[in-house]
Amino acid sequence: ARAVSVRNEISYVMVKPDGVQRGLVGEIIGRFERKGFKLRALKLYSTPKEVAEEHYKDLSSKPFYKDLVQYILSGPVVAMVWEGDGVVASARKLIGATNPLASEPGTIRGDLAIEVGRNVIHGSDSPDNGERETALWFPEGLVKWDQTLEPWLK
Ligand code: PPS
Repeated sequence: ARAVSVRNEISYVMVKPDGVQRGLVGEIIGRFERKGFKLRALKLYSTPKEVAEEHYKDLSSKPFYKDLVQYILSGPVVAMVWEGDGVVASARKLIGATNPLASEPGTIRGDLAIEVGRNVIHGSDSPDNGERETALWFPEGLVKWDQTLEPWLK
């Protein structure tokens, strides 16, 4: 029995264009699979400008906003939705701190990146944003599929 059930929490996770161009897609997806989260959606995607702008709209007043949007549009991304207990916070841990030079070794950014403007991956920063970003990037909806694993792996 669980004190708190967050079973249906989802995180929007995206391999950014630098990660795709550097051939890091398999390495990154593998870390989420091995952790035990459940893949609910996945696509290689040429991001429409409006989607990139909407995704980062809370940052529109930041000095780096234009560069950030341009970076996301610089090549295809791998858009994903992962589901599981506490997946939002856990994904942020797997990903590591925003600035790759401050990310711990063992994290995706800590192991694979050096620049904040080329930090390989995005993960939702709250369950609400997990829902919002999933609706934005996957208006077609998620894939429903049954667990074939033991129930302790959600
Ligand atoms: S902030 O300023 O606290 O809102 O920023 P933060 O939450 O750390 O980061 C939000 C996203 O902005 C990206 N970012 C940058 N991009 C380019 N240049 C600079 N200097 C920069 N600083 C932050 C950062 O990677 C976050 O992107 P996502 O895709 O959400 O990880």
